[in-house]
Amino acid sequence: MSETEIKSIQWFPGHMAKTRRAIKENLSLVDAVVEIIDARIPLSSQNPEMGKMTAGKPRMFVLNKRDMADNGVTDKWISWFRSKDVAAVAMDCKTGKGLKNFTSALENQVLKNLLETRRAKGMAGTPLRIMIVGIPNVGKSSFINRMSGSKKAKVEDRPGVTRSKQWVKLGDRIEMLDMPGVLWPKFDDQDVAKRLAFTGAIKDDILDTETLAMLLLEYLAANYPELLKARYKMEVSEMPGKDLLELLGRKRGMLISGGEVDTERAAIMLLDEFRAGKIGCISLERPEDEQNG
Ligand code: G4P
Repeated sequence: MSETEIKSIQWFPGHMAKTRRAIKENLSLVDAVVEIIDARIPLSSQNPEMGKMTAGKPRMFVLNKRDMADNGVTDKWISWFRSKDVAAVAMDCKTGKGLKNFTSALENQVLKNLLETRRAKGMAGTPLRIMIVGIPNVGKSSFINRMSGSKKAKVEDRPGVTRSKQWVKLGDRIEMLDMPGVLWPKFDDQDVAKRLAFTGAIKDDILDTETLAMLLLEYLAANYPELLKARYKMEVSEMPGKDLLELLGRKRGMLISGGEVDTERAAIMLLDEFRAGKIGCISLERPEDEQNG
């Protein structure tokens, strides 16, 4: 990757404090915390403070948008999480593929002990209560809609539960606290910021579009050259991102007067097509690249 500087991006301290408070206040009401992450960037789309914020509470990950990620890489991530004794399932909330795996992992892994205790006490029917958290745009609402089906049933007030706390039924046995926690990723790390920007999780205006497109092209040329060839007829060798962007613009006939390439237009087109999944199924992080992995 070229050493192009990405403007340092600030956290949102006010939002973070609010979320941290909300999670802390409600943690005792749930049996487990479910963090939705992006299957294309399972590490960069996590909130690094989550473990600390939910310490002592069983938790699991849902690698969402599986349909947009490289299947083989996603399978490796699931094994990677498993090797760390962390429950994780991959899902596609656009079609609902993987929903059954989620319920099964929650009941048979994450909350196995709790369910056994409840069974022993004759309380097997008590619903499992979960809190859903995740960074913006990762698919929290899609997950909730998928899980709850077309009829999103509110649970009626019950004794001992504050009226303002709303529970939503997700299937027959699971209830969700109707307060999806919006978390912020850690984008003071340049690599993390770059990947979040590729997927559109952080806004374009904090990064220069052409720089971003060049960086994405370098990654694609190194890892998915066949996809660049298939979509843009680009034959790539080891070349700088600037040349890749020019080549892309030329292939798409994006020229301005004098025969120069309109690199800004080409950059916008590339990012739009990547985010729409038009280039193919692409993972931006691999477990084998993680030094600590
Ligand atoms: P959020 O609550 O975490 O902010 O995310 P939300 O569910 O609103 O999803 C953000 C975008 O991601 C939506 O697209 C949604 O359709 C899409 N999405 C969610 N899950 C998946 C998935 O598993 N696969 C794919 N391919 N996309 C997913 P949008 O463009 O904002 O809206 P629309 O396309 O639904 O109109």
